[in-house]
Amino acid sequence: MAEDSAHLPAEILLSKRVQEMVLNDEEPPAPYKCRQDAESEDDDDSLSASPIPIIDLSRLSSSQEPAQETEEELQKIKLALSSWGCFQAIGHGISGSFLDKVRQVTREFFAQPMDEKKKYAKAVLEFEGYGADPVPEEGQSLDWSDRLFLNVQPADQRNYKLWPSNPDSFREVLEEYTEEMKRVTELVSRAMAKSLNLDEDCFLRQFGERSQLQARFNYYSPCKRPDLVLGLKPHSDGSGYTILMQDEVGLQVLKNDKWFKVPKNPHALLILMADQMQIMTNGIFKSPVHRVLSNSERDRISVVVFYTPEVGKEIGPEDGLIDDKTPKLFKKVKDYADIHWGYYQRGMSALHAAQV
Ligand code: OGA
Ligand code: NI
Repeated sequence: MAEDSAHLPAEILLSKRVQEMVLNDEEPPAPYKCRQDAESEDDDDSLSASPIPIIDLSRLSSSQEPAQETEEELQKIKLALSSWGCFQAIGHGISGSFLDKVRQVTREFFAQPMDEKKKYAKAVLEFEGYGADPVPEEGQSLDWSDRLFLNVQPADQRNYKLWPSNPDSFREVLEEYTEEMKRVTELVSRAMAKSLNLDEDCFLRQFGERSQLQARFNYYSPCKRPDLVLGLKPHSDGSGYTILMQDEVGLQVLKNDKWFKVPKNPHALLILMADQMQIMTNGIFKSPVHRVLSNSERDRISVVVFYTPEVGKEIGPEDGLIDDKTPKLFKKVKDYADIHWGYYQRGMSALHAAQV
């Protein structure tokens, strides 16, 4: 069976879920094989103390904190985002038990029989629903993962037909998680602005009144050939920034040409800059390339929330960051996520399209 499917075009392959191939004990078909570089360090857990910065958001919001501690945390944010482009946030105000619940409903959804999940199936060319990314360009590799992608904000953009009715708490949990994400994006957007000595609402204004939140639930099946196959290919995100929660390790972030693993921390949220924050900060904050490894033994889930400026809204470098010595690096752009997508499918970064 594996030999047959190895020669099928991507759009046919994509109609079949990775989870189905794993249940049938199939080898990954050729279009999934993308790695020649499986470095031995992938499995090297000796660097257990991850250098990915940790930021305590509670030190920013509490009015009792001495100003100096807030200032220290803001400096840490600026340093983290201009070098790594990401940090693990703790003290974000979402309880550990609620984060566990989000992980649990995600696992329950993917654990259901294929027929149940396919009730929410997306068309191959669509984004929203259950399935894989729309077909990549000829020659691009496929990801060893399945997804459920849902628009969650603005609320009038929700397509509830695609929201699972099983597990029965799914909808309520996702609605609550969306409220939490709105709160966290406000907190983080203001903190980032303050860390750059900008008006605290400047990024929120760029994202706009109808800024978008999209949730992507990822399921990474175990894979017999993690040396050849990736759970998710290297990319930077096309959103403004992204808030990510995982259960097991697997995500890696590229810094100075080296991959660093994002450690397991059930209480932390990874705040990951995407291309549009790199544009709005005139390149000061970095949108890092990241990827997900496959694992031969265990599965993994992640819940990824993309925070993106309002549809049709122009964004660009903040004026306060531009002067005679620091020229504008990026033009104003709108709907950058669409531009990003076109390049992503060809395995390319899109930021050059916004460069001056
Ligand atoms: C993404 C992404 C990483 C993960 O969905 O864009 O980078 O850990 N996901 O699932
Ligand atoms: Ni990503």
